[in-house]
Amino acid sequence: MSKQRIVVLISGNGSNLQAIIDATSNQLRNIEIALVISSKASAHGLTRASEAGIPTLVHSLKSYKDKGLTRSQFDKDLADIILNVGNVQLVVMAGWMLIVSREFLDRLQHSADVNPTVPRVINLHPALPGEFSGVNAIQRAFDAQQSDPSLRRSGVMVHDVIEDVDMGKVVEMEEVEFINGESLEDFESRMHQAEHRVIVKAVQTCLQQSSTK
Ligand code: GRF
Repeated sequence: MSKQRIVVLISGNGSNLQAIIDATSNQLRNIEIALVISSKASAHGLTRASEAGIPTLVHSLKSYKDKGLTRSQFDKDLADIILNVGNVQLVVMAGWMLIVSREFLDRLQHSADVNPTVPRVINLHPALPGEFSGVNAIQRAFDAQQSDPSLRRSGVMVHDVIEDVDMGKVVEMEEVEFINGESLEDFESRMHQAEHRVIVKAVQTCLQQSSTK
């Protein structure tokens, strides 16, 4: 059976991309990472992909702006890049630090003529549904617990990408209990470990769901 093809979007370190790469020899042996797209040329995740023999591409909003091109064009072109990979089942935003627009989602979803399998788009967010949406979620959860010790846990989730930021249907999630007296660094490390588990589980769940359709 041919492997299910995914595209991973990153902007930085790529530790979540690395978790997916590592899982392709285990729980994700039936997937192929067809392309890694980074919004930043400096992203260490590009090195991780290259070392794993995975094609990479930089899609930089700054270069669009420098050429006087719009954010909308950037988003449409991002969708076209993904569609031109061919037969992509799933797009995984693993630390992609840009909010995607309606144009991006519409272009992917109304592409049946180009791409028989309209790719599902999922996003990793280091918070639980309805909590700390947007940037610096880990820090904000930590600060919230510092001022309200009754807060018991935060967590991480992977959700379907819709227009409302971090609000799509949850695919997988994992709670992360606060530990009294723990440093932000240690809390952050445990949250990232949870991310690495959840993102692999979410890819597995999505591809199992699509193969049973
Ligand atoms: C993760 O915490 C992710 O949830 C957030 O940025 C971080 C990306 O980490 N959006 P990495 O690039 O996968 O190491």
